[in-house]
Amino acid sequence: MNLVVVSNRVARGKANEPMTGGLAAALLPVVEKSGAIWVGSSGRVRDGAQREPFAEIEALGAGALAMLDLPAAHYGGYYEGFANSALWPALHSRTDLISASQEDYLSYREVNAFMARALLRFRKPETVFWIQDYHFLALGAELRDLGVTQPIGFFLHTPWPARAVIEGVPHHRELIEAMLAYDLIGFQTQDDCESFLSYVQSNLGLDVHDGIVTSRYGTSRIAVFPIGIDPDNFAQQAAKAVSHPDVSRLRRSLNGEKLAIGVDRLDYSKGLINRINAFDRMWTLRPALERTASLLQIATPSRGAIEAYGNLQSELAKLVSDVNGRHGEVDWTPIRYLNKGFSQTVLAGLYRTAQVGVVTPLHDGMNLVAKEYVAAQNPADPGVLVLSKFAGAAKELDTALLVNPHDIDGMARTIATALSMPLTERRMRWEAMMAKLRARTIQHWFSDFVDALQETRIGRRAAEPPTAEPPELWPRRSANGARYH
Ligand code: F6P
Repeated sequence: MNLVVVSNRVARGKANEPMTGGLAAALLPVVEKSGAIWVGSSGRVRDGAQREPFAEIEALGAGALAMLDLPAAHYGGYYEGFANSALWPALHSRTDLISASQEDYLSYREVNAFMARALLRFRKPETVFWIQDYHFLALGAELRDLGVTQPIGFFLHTPWPARAVIEGVPHHRELIEAMLAYDLIGFQTQDDCESFLSYVQSNLGLDVHDGIVTSRYGTSRIAVFPIGIDPDNFAQQAAKAVSHPDVSRLRRSLNGEKLAIGVDRLDYSKGLINRINAFDRMWTLRPALERTASLLQIATPSRGAIEAYGNLQSELAKLVSDVNGRHGEVDWTPIRYLNKGFSQTVLAGLYRTAQVGVVTPLHDGMNLVAKEYVAAQNPADPGVLVLSKFAGAAKELDTALLVNPHDIDGMARTIATALSMPLTERRMRWEAMMAKLRARTIQHWFSDFVDALQETRIGRRAAEPPTAEPPELWPRRSANGARYH
């Protein structure tokens, strides 16, 4: 098998570089080992009408990394536009933030079509394509249009919302029909899977049996593959990282006080405002906890060109400063707030230093920070995870202290409970979570998906009539030379 993995963002194998985002960081070690070709955006754009995409290719473990310059005329409409101002808010149930023009949609489709053309050079008879995330919902359909008959799988790293929410996305029907060109569609949780199937049955009127959807493309299998981490490797990294200068300096600066830690991209789905309000509330209700416990909040700037992100950054900075002004002392800062990224190694050491990990998104596909926080703990004296029940990770890590991120008072009380939890209970909860992490690692996720994809395609081929014509699901249109459905 020749595996080609595709995602918008890719990661290079440099251990000490800051990592932006869970997907790229999670994929790196498994892709490196698998010998796959990992194709994604170079982060640069290129003018001109050249049809042959420009790719920079470098070795990555046993395989290769191919980074493409995306078309300059469409990049903004694709990334900041349709992907992150229409799909991302909808996928996180924020219909109020959906905003995308027809041009954005066309750019999104153009970049999907561009990526499909670029992938042809990596195609061999035995190739298996695995497409990642919401940036490429239509990539499978574009590959099929180019005559690709090899297995194509898709995994969504975000949640999939209720039908009424996805209906808020312009062109939702075309996009979801296009998704059915994938042989296998993977989601993080059963709820995501069910919401998708409910749309397919009710809005598209298609038959679904045992997670198999039949469309004019043939059959697509819809299944759950919760993404994991490599917990033992992360634990080793964390144990080593305690002597890293950044981590030692943090420990020295604590003067015996307890530390809670939050590490997130600066994104409205992460519940950062509610989290800071919960700490504010905790120190107000329990003044004895002032000075004895502080919060280190790392909020890595993200998608800064989008208005909602800029607004959040200003709102958060003001809120943190208000809370620090209200509760701080000449020699004590309640919230240490950092707008920068850290390497996985340093993060592992910071997690191990903190007695409480706060992961309280309003809605999250999985949230690997929750899993990494658990894996980083000292088994003899583990910290406590406070976890939103709306993160995919809560389905597995059910011995964390689960919170409703909209209930500020409830979160304040739970964080206080976490800060004073006795060792026996901490160990019991942590051991149960660690067992879950070991049972479903990133290696399991990767091989389970690839095995299922190969099996699904074999089943689909057997069911297809030998002379099947390429599917024509909807009338083709074209505008400005753009090819889209
Ligand atoms: O959740 C989806 C996801 O791909 C994450 O894995 C990652 O944290 C984030 O989105 C990346 O966003 P961006 O590439 O826009 O920084």
